Amino acid sequence: MLKIGNLNFSYGDLKVLWGVDIEVQEGEIVTVVGANGAGKSTLLKNISRLVKPGSGSITFNNVDITKCAAHEVVEQGVVQVPEGRKIFPQMTVMENLRMGSFIASARKKRDLNMDRVFTMFPRLKEREKQLGGTMSGGEQQMLAIARGLMADPKLLLLDEPSLGLSPLLVKSIFEIIAEIRKQGVTIMLVEQNVFQSLRIADRGYVLETGRVVLKDKGEALLNNEHVKKAYLGL
Ligand SMILES: Nc1ncnc2c1ncn2[C@@H]1O[C@H](COP(=O)(O)OP(=O)(O)OP(=O)(O)O)[C@@H](O)[C@H]1O
Ligand SMILES: [Mg+2]
Repeated sequence: MLKIGNLNFSYGDLKVLWGVDIEVQEGEIVTVVGANGAGKSTLLKNISRLVKPGSGSITFNNVDITKCAAHEVVEQGVVQVPEGRKIFPQMTVMENLRMGSFIASARKKRDLNMDRVFTMFPRLKEREKQLGGTMSGGEQQMLAIARGLMADPKLLLLDEPSLGLSPLLVKSIFEIIAEIRKQGVTIMLVEQNVFQSLRIADRGYVLETGRVVLKDKGEALLNNEHVKKAYLGL
């Protein structure tokens, strides 16, 4: 479904991605793990066209999306939930969700998707009139994911959805991610929470200073000696 080939990317003189090859098959959860500054967010921004992509290829269902504008990538069905939530703080929960279904194809399915996200996140339904910025950190993360789902994605890109959440909430966020996949959305996840994110992943990649150094099934990576030492403190 998504194919990234030999992607190189620099911010000015600073080279951040070095020959990255990553594939995501339809129906998979694929996790990219890596430390702070490894280039995880930059990788997602290259896909969703939040930066002008570097050299190399990125295709989605055989369409070259490096030539698309950001909104066209969304129209293809690739939707990013950005790092740090980035909801609209002065808008209500309901308004935030409606913003998510702004593109034409999603607007038609707005009511259906609204029901779907309220079933998945009953807390958002209870708080539909509350201002986004006054929701708790965990609620804002749920709102950010729900807003992404309102765009009716085929591929959902999640940038550190568990960041800053309590252990209990981290667990429920990962359960929700697994549930989203069950409902037919393919997921590419970047995370520093190596244990939880590889546990739910079909396959994973380890990114170190902008290079893919390991790739394998999620479970195999959890048992990999390097991953255990460098990321799991075992
Ligand atoms: N807009 C930018 N301009 C210049 N350098 C940047 C910019 N954004 C990120 N960088 C640099 O690129 C490198 C990779 O950053 P990136 O945000 O992709 O890392 P990350 O893996 O997402 O890290 P984290 O886990 O901390 O979110 C870092 O060294 C960062 O300082
Ligand atoms: Mg990041």
